[in-house]
Amino acid sequence: MQNPITIALSKGRIFEETVPLLQKAGIEILDNPETSRKLILNTNNKNTRVIILRPTDVPTYVQYGAADFGIAGKDVLMQHGEMGLYQPLDLEIAQCKMMVAVKKGVDYQKVSSIGSRLRVATKYPDIAKKHFAKKGVHVDIIKLYGSMELAPLVGLSDAIVDIVSTGNTLQANNLVPVEFIMDISSRLIVNKASLRLKYQTIQPIIDAFSSL
Ligand code: ATP
Ligand code: PRP
Repeated sequence: MQNPITIALSKGRIFEETVPLLQKAGIEILDNPETSRKLILNTNNKNTRVIILRPTDVPTYVQYGAADFGIAGKDVLMQHGEMGLYQPLDLEIAQCKMMVAVKKGVDYQKVSSIGSRLRVATKYPDIAKKHFAKKGVHVDIIKLYGSMELAPLVGLSDAIVDIVSTGNTLQANNLVPVEFIMDISSRLIVNKASLRLKYQTIQPIIDAFSSL
């Protein structure tokens, strides 16, 4: 009999972009998380289920083995750390960039010059700290959980570190991107013990994903 498998996903863009990948591996999810309140979704295989989590919780469930594998953004993985996680594949989905942005008209070179102190609002404090440390810029990091674009508009911060894709959100809020930090995409993450113990079931799924 096939080992039971639990797959951790988040709702929204990761779920939508993962459905076709799972289909290639022969896995059809039978519920829609956008219309159902269920957090455990059945699939066409009675030994395979999908659990729906906040994006930042996906690595935690996989790390502790509550899920065998999952999909998470590089942003989330960099904040979480890599302990207990095997990352065999960049799936190249949910692609975007991590950027520094400021209010239109702000002289970024001046406010971020050596010797000044920049207030940076972000959901990604570790990424932001590392970036500014490399540049030798002193920063006060203000940790937020969303709507970062608001912070410079109401005087909470001088700059933000956030994800940019089309640039529409920055533009709508009178902000401009001023510095690229890194490209972001989502990766397959696998619990190391699960891979060992359930190799016969998990490896074919990884192979199906990698052949796309
Ligand atoms: P939460 O729901 O906890 O606030 P979130 O809004 O970042 O988290 P999603 O929007 O589903 O959650 O993002 C999931 C992943 O997709 C992120 O971790 C990031 O890697 C990527 N992502 C975020 N925003 C975009 C975007 N606008 N375009 C493409 N990829 C994105
Ligand atoms: C992300 C990010 C930006 C936006 C950028 O938000 O936090 O606000 O996408 O995308 P754009 O450059 O295409 O406008 P998301 O869509 O995930 O919304 P949320 O953070 O409010 O969930």
